[in-house]
Amino acid sequence: MKLIIGNDHAGTELKFEIQEYLEEKGYEVINYGTDTNESVHYPQIGAAVAEKVAAGEADLGILICGTGVGISLAANKVPGIRAAVCSDVTTAHLVREHNHANILAFGARIVGSELAKDMVDAFLNAKPLGGRHEERVEMITAVEKKYSK
Ligand code: RB5
Repeated sequence: MKLIIGNDHAGTELKFEIQEYLEEKGYEVINYGTDTNESVHYPQIGAAVAEKVAAGEADLGILICGTGVGISLAANKVPGIRAAVCSDVTTAHLVREHNHANILAFGARIVGSELAKDMVDAFLNAKPLGGRHEERVEMITAVEKKYSK
């Protein structure tokens, strides 16, 4: 599975830790975030990572900013993207199973690295459940289409 990870300046250290963790597990990880602590604009990174996931250049994405919120808001403006901010393991697998999320977002100022790794595992090991959940995800897509004209 190919993953893409993006972060702003608030998430640089956690990004490196997560990237290393995933590569040790055998995942291919595209690093699309900043590698320094110099201030950058999270909307640009969130949108760029989302565009690559939507284009199929990566199977799933991970986004990190201070809270996970700003970067996910930008990502969610890209058609076909469902970026979910999580700060617990249960939500991290349910967003994949029920909401068919294709990007996991979290905040480096909110969660510690062990929790972040557990959330990443939960997200990546979960599978979209389809069925009634698929129907609801299609309803979300319909809202997206309604306002994208
Ligand atoms: C950057 O200081 C901070 O605003 C950003 O990382 C994020 O938390 C925004 O949602």
